[in-house]
This record gives sequence, structure tokens and C-alpha cells, in this order.
Amino acid sequence: MSNYHIKHLEEYYQVYRKSVREPENFWEEIAEEHFLWRKKWDTVLEWDFTKPEVKWFKGAKLNITENCIDRHLLTRGDKTAILFEPNNPDEPSNPITYKELHSHVCKMANVLKDQGVKKGDRVCVYLPMIPELVYTVLACARIGAVHSVVFAGFSANALATRITDCDSKIVITSDGSYRGSKTIDLKGIVDEALRISKGVETVLVAKRISSEIEMLQNRDQWLQPLLDKASAQCEPEIMDAEDPLFILYTSGSTGQPKGMLHTTAGYMVYAAYTFKNVFNYIENDVFWCSADVGWITGHSYIIYGPLCNGATSILFEGVPSHPSYSRFWEIVEKHRVNQFYTAPTAIRALAKEGVGHIEGHDLSSLKVLGTVGEPINEEAWHWYDDNIGKNKAPIVDTWFQTENGGIMITPIPYVTPTKPTYATLPFIGIQPALMDENGKEIEGNQVSGRLCIKFPWPSIARSIWGNHQRYKDTYFSEFKNMYFTGDGALRDEVGYYRITGRVDDIIIVSGHNLGTAPIEDAINEHPAVAESAIVGFPHDIKGNALYGYVTLKETGEGRNHDNLRKEINQMITDQIGPIAKLDKIQFTKGLPKTRSGKIMRRILRKIAHKDSSNLGDISTLLNPECVEDIIENAL
Ligand code: PRX
Repeated sequence: MSNYHIKHLEEYYQVYRKSVREPENFWEEIAEEHFLWRKKWDTVLEWDFTKPEVKWFKGAKLNITENCIDRHLLTRGDKTAILFEPNNPDEPSNPITYKELHSHVCKMANVLKDQGVKKGDRVCVYLPMIPELVYTVLACARIGAVHSVVFAGFSANALATRITDCDSKIVITSDGSYRGSKTIDLKGIVDEALRISKGVETVLVAKRISSEIEMLQNRDQWLQPLLDKASAQCEPEIMDAEDPLFILYTSGSTGQPKGMLHTTAGYMVYAAYTFKNVFNYIENDVFWCSADVGWITGHSYIIYGPLCNGATSILFEGVPSHPSYSRFWEIVEKHRVNQFYTAPTAIRALAKEGVGHIEGHDLSSLKVLGTVGEPINEEAWHWYDDNIGKNKAPIVDTWFQTENGGIMITPIPYVTPTKPTYATLPFIGIQPALMDENGKEIEGNQVSGRLCIKFPWPSIARSIWGNHQRYKDTYFSEFKNMYFTGDGALRDEVGYYRITGRVDDIIIVSGHNLGTAPIEDAINEHPAVAESAIVGFPHDIKGNALYGYVTLKETGEGRNHDNLRKEINQMITDQIGPIAKLDKIQFTKGLPKTRSGKIMRRILRKIAHKDSSNLGDISTLLNPECVEDIIENAL
């Protein structure tokens, strides 16, 4: 028997060693015993990080939805697969059984087919956290179409960029969404996006908020009447192991967002295996990941990981603060949630409200707590541990990236002793390395460096959609024969890892990755702006917030600064979305530059951190005089 469920530390080390010494044997056993294959593989792994090319389970045939749904029908048909919890607590929860999920997914798959969607076609999904989102994702996988879910908080421009990049001919959306006390006009955003991106022929619209919306003839159709007519049976398309499963966009430090391409078999095996172990999942547990399906965490730990294990996974439409800060705890109590997985930014926002919102709620069902998306500070970690886990439910601080597909560095609950702010040990099969700036691996403990991974794991993204060269340049060029994460990390005296943050121009705000260059591009489009630079600065709740230094053109100099700030933030909202708005905007006479004209962000970062005492030697700058002015007027 393979070690599908690791139960103690010695076993972890033993299994880990096996996964490193004999990775092919190890993953072959896991794949063989726990998944449904139409045909087994010819080779377990072929790889070459110089190309870069990675193939897991080559030659195997399968459909991931058979693994997520069909194979559970006999034994778990009446068990809840997805437990939908609406935004409004007065609206009843909706438990969707595996049998029902099967029927919904098949109907949706047939609708997509009727609309002409075929294997390999890209389907853009711009939906709120409602059951149709899960049905659509799985329906794509059912027929071999490639889903590209775009987080429904992105702007029309950001949506248009993603639709154009992967050349989707179809968009699935809703008439709108509920978010706390607000509603959002999603269909209006899609309409605007499709005025920019021209290739979409079909828009299917789920009804959620019953608002008056415009339907464009010959392009837009309500989804429900099509579903009502569709058959509840749809044979799965039999896919190759390395056929694309989905594209998911993530910010780059420069340029367009990167469409990370994930393939079928390796992703499935790794998402399922990590889910089982990282959350100590046991049959009949109720699992809740509060992320949005628009992020990789939602793909892997709301949909694919839990369903592959036959679990019950909560899909929550709302926000933690509506109608009150007790909302999360009401849900935990109501559904007797066993594992709760959220982001540090949510924990900090809740901690700021004190503990009154927790009182009176029975959280005794919780046995594992998780965090993901950004470093968790010590205070937030203890607040979570003391007040939510009551020092009984271990916290798994899980590190991974869109590019990784599944959790990479993490404690295993009840196995790995935890340590606040540390993601602790590599998961099974993951071989991290810390590198110095000269490209040499730093051996030993109590060291820090740039975090790389030396060996492929099953769910590594295979490419950037439409731009393999960029994939190579971004991840495989900085360090020879290694995947470079873009993160810095330190390794303590026992070999535990602590992720210290990005070492490139990506800033993580409330757990969202934001590249500085696209935000600067948005600002620079303002007619009064000459140039700009964005840096991050520490923020109590968001982890980091954005600080913009903006130099105006002569024509803009007389303008009212508060009005300009509003206009700049509106431009960012239009181009990217409200998540990228700047907290501080300082107008400067100039930006410090090297003699070759490069903006010295290091200096700007220090000033934003209120640490301008030691800026180093600035005499070599092209324009050292501007620094004093920036310090004097810092916000
Ligand atoms: O900097 C790391 C941070 O989030 C980045 C990846 O972001 P994204 O692709 O959006 O995926 C987020 C959810 C998996 C990483 O490069 N990050 C993620 N998890 C952690 C983290 N930083 C510290 N600790 C974590 N647990």
C-alpha cells in the first residue's frame, strides 16, 4: 500500500525520503492506487528543465471528472459534494449531492457542446461563487475544454485582456453577484470587456440577482432554459495525461498577466494527495476553503482536491463581514466544519474587530486551520490559534503559487510540530533549494536565499499559454536547472522554511498578487502624469499596501492633488480592478534614477517604509536632489 495518509513524523520523513530517492516509483504507487484511469501511463516522468518540459504519466488516459464525480456515485451518491452557502444567511444553504453534481455537470457539459465548444477550446468563466461556477469548471473538464476562470473582482479591461490572450469564443457569466450588502453588475462588465475583446461569439448568463440586464441578440443567452432542455448524461471525453485542463492567469512583474497552463493527470494526483494530507481529511469531514475559485487555491482546494477525495466542500458566496463579523463562525457552527482554510488578511481583519464576534459560537468541530497566500505575521497566527483553534486545532501555514498547482511547503497537521510564521517542511516530493545571488545553492541550516525547486512535482504548470519562451525566461533562466519561485525564504536550525516575501516587483496585497509595472502603466495613461513608481509598504490588515510616487507633467502641476488622486485610482480600478488601488499617492518633482535611467525602487521602498535614515550612497544617482524632496513630503 502506498502512503496515502501520513500519520506521524517518522512516517513523513520516511515517505519524504522515498519521494526524493525514487520519485517515479513513489508517484506511480499513489497514482495507481487512488485514481481511476482509462489507460495507465507508458512513463511516469519525463523532464528537462532546460527546455523546459515536464511530462507526468505520459500515455495515460483519463477524465478528471470521473475521478471527481462518477467513481463516487455508487458509494457516496447521496453524500453532499458541494455545500453552497449563500451571501445572505436568510437564504437556505444548498447541499448538492454527488448524484446531483453529476447531473448538473453533465447538463452543463451538454449545453457547452450544443454551443459548439469542443475539446481544447478555451472557455472563459466569469462567475461569482455560486454552484454554476463549479458546474461550469467541471463541465469544461468533462468535455475536454480548457477553463479559464477570471476572478469576478477583475475589471472589464482585465477581463478583456484575459479573453483575448487565450482566445475564448465563449464567456459564462451571471446577471450579477451579491457581495455583502452590495450587488455587482457582472454582465455589464462582460459587455464592456467584449467591446474591447472582439472574438467572443457566445455569452451564457446564469441568473443570480434577477436584475434588468441587456441581452445582445445572437450573442447572449440565459443559461437556465438551455440547462432545462439538456440531457443529464454526458460521456466524459477521454483525455491524455498531458492534455490541458485549465489556464489561470497570474500577475507578472512586467507585461501582460501570465496564463499558467495546467495539465490533467499530474495536477489531479497532486491536488488530491495534498488535500488528503495537508488537511488530515477523513471521510465525512466537512471542509471549507474560503478562497475564491478565481484563484488557484479555489481550483485545487474547493473543487478538484476535495472532490477527488469524495469530500464535502463548502462554497461560500459572501464576505466575512456581512451581515456581521460573526459570519464565518456562524457557518462553522452551522455545518460543523472540520477544516477551515483562509487567508492571513481575513484573519487580521477579523482580529481587528476583537473576539466578541466569536463568542457564543461553537467552533469545537474544527480540527485543522489553514492559511495561504501571503506570510502570516506572528500576532495573527496566535490570534487564530488562541481564538479559533483554541490551541487544539493545528495551523497549517501553506505556501504555494498559481504556477505550482498544489501546496508545496506546509506542516502536516498532527504530524509536523508547527512554528508561527513558518510554512515548515517541504511536502512529499518537493525538493526546495535556497540560492545565493551568484546562482550557488546555499547548503546547511540557519541560512536565507532565493527559493527554488530542484525537481519537478506532478502539478507544476507546463507553460505560459501562448508564450513558452516567457515561461522559460521567468522561471528557469535565473538559476540553472531549477524552477525559481520569485520568493525569498530562510531555513532555520531544524530545516523549517519561512517565506519572507517576493524578491521581484510583485507585491502581495490582501493575498492578491499585483505586478507593479501594469499599475504604473495604468497611472501613466493619465494625461497629467509624466511618470510613476509603485512600491509596497506594511499594512496592518492587507499585509502590504501600495504607495505610488507620481511625477506630473508641467500641464498637470496646477491641478488639485486630491482630485488627481481620485482620478488615478479610478484609472487603476478601470484597468485592473479595485484590489490594485493605491493607499498613498505622493506627488514628486522627480523619481530617483541610476545613470542608466532605471528608477531606484530600493530608495522609494525605504522611504515608504519610513526608514529613510540609511539610504546608502545616493551620490551616484542621476538626480540625487529629488530624494530630499521625496523624504520631506513623504506620506
Ligand atoms: O509570495 C508567495 C505568496 O503568494 C505567492 C503566490 O501567489 P499566487 O500565485 O496568487 O498564489 C497564492 C495562493 C497559493 C507566492 O509566491 N504566498 C503564498 N502562500 C504563502 C505565501 N507567502 C508566505 N506564506 C505563505 N503561506
